[in-house]
Amino acid sequence: MSDKLFVFDTTLRDGEQVPGCQLNTVEKIEVAKALEELGVDIIEAGFPISSPGDFKSVVEISKAVKNPTICALTRAVEKDIDVAADALKYAKKGRIHTGIGTSFYHIKYKLNSNEDEIVERAIAAVKYAKKYVEDVEFYAEDAGRTENAYLARVVEAVIKAGATVINIPDTTGYCFPHEFGEKIKYLMDNVSNVDKAIISTHCHNDLGMATSNTLSGVLNGARQVEVTINGIGERAGNTSLEEVVMAIRSRKNIGIDTSHINTRNIYKTSRLVSSLMNMPVQPNKAIVGRNAFAHSSGIHQDGVLKNRENYEIIDPVEVGISESSIDLTARSGRAALKHRLQILGFTFEPEQLNKIYEAFLELADKKKSINDEDLQVLVGSKHLGKKNAIVLKHLQVLSGASIIPMATVSLEIKGESFTATEHGNGPVDAAYKAIKKLVMHKIRLEEFLVQAITKGSDDLGKVHVQIENQGRIYYGFSGNTDIITASVEAFIDAINKIV
Ligand code: KIV
Ligand code: ZN
Repeated sequence: MSDKLFVFDTTLRDGEQVPGCQLNTVEKIEVAKALEELGVDIIEAGFPISSPGDFKSVVEISKAVKNPTICALTRAVEKDIDVAADALKYAKKGRIHTGIGTSFYHIKYKLNSNEDEIVERAIAAVKYAKKYVEDVEFYAEDAGRTENAYLARVVEAVIKAGATVINIPDTTGYCFPHEFGEKIKYLMDNVSNVDKAIISTHCHNDLGMATSNTLSGVLNGARQVEVTINGIGERAGNTSLEEVVMAIRSRKNIGIDTSHINTRNIYKTSRLVSSLMNMPVQPNKAIVGRNAFAHSSGIHQDGVLKNRENYEIIDPVEVGISESSIDLTARSGRAALKHRLQILGFTFEPEQLNKIYEAFLELADKKKSINDEDLQVLVGSKHLGKKNAIVLKHLQVLSGASIIPMATVSLEIKGESFTATEHGNGPVDAAYKAIKKLVMHKIRLEEFLVQAITKGSDDLGKVHVQIENQGRIYYGFSGNTDIITASVEAFIDAINKIV
């Protein structure tokens, strides 16, 4: 009989700590729902004491999803635990994740403490969390560099105090796979009450070994894996969900059951996270990279056509890609576009599809091939016939070396046309000033992010803006091969949300 492997997703906590990847609550709920559909067992929704935004997200995710357990992170501090318990009050199944550093470095230099005191603090935190929830997970931060005998002492003590899951993080991504596996085995063999808890892995990818370490942990007794979509996370990231799940799926003989994960949702969840977090997936990323199933050499193409298994160990269909990835071009028809959009999880009414197809042809004329990221930008609101109060009618900019950048913008506002010209420290600044003059709202630009999606200078640029009006934050987005037009469209998109 196979042992169930619990999948603990921390995309919205450890993954979201990456600078520039922060999501607002609405976006977090969207990701949480996608994770629920994917079938993960636990969603780590945030670190409630860290900010009001994190607190709110844990509350709202708890309300929005029902199947997975919702987990909230804390330090081994009573106030953190109180706040986490409060944030989890709507969770159907709530878990508090508390812990403390156990390595020599953490004990001496971070916590200025000693081994005995750390054991006491760990026990106290678990007991305190138990007052609120039955399901308490304990993390031994930097367990990867913690001496095994001391780690076993801590683990035994916290299980005795009531911890139901024990997280063994390789916080710094230091371990080699055989070492990490031996660490888990040591705990399985030397912690007398280990059968009363689930041992969990939480590996970071600093040396590119997060997936190997996680698998080594599982092969030695861990039954929960802490992972993120696309392996996102601080520094080199966390273990990626798709790699671990598909590696285990490809080896039926190891007796580990992940059948509750709907692997066919992997690709679309990957793309959702990538686009919301502005974090492109590297083309050669295992399982979800653009080239993961693309065969370009003649020999490989021939081999795959004769029998897919000649060169593919995973059927792309199993991760939600219904065919090996081939970019669309200006010669692709409407049916091919529709088919590809369906693969990405989008379905449209014929009229909407026509609009997207027109935009697709326009883009395909400018760019040689259109990939999935481009399509996701194309299906943005502006092509769906949404009626906006403010519409960009004309934009002309003057910029270059040794001239003062100027912009003339014409907008249609509620059916009437208005034009303004302004100068600024660059063409975008000038255009934004002209727009502000026309819309007459008190707007403050809070964030402006430009990103090229793929490779060449003909690439589609994505612009995300965040603006503030009367204390409220609004988000805008656009994609265009002309980066200045994209910047202006994104700004107008945000303003339209005010009006
Ligand atoms: O990497 C780590 O040690 C963590 C803990 C807070 C669980 O993310
Ligand atoms: Zn971590």
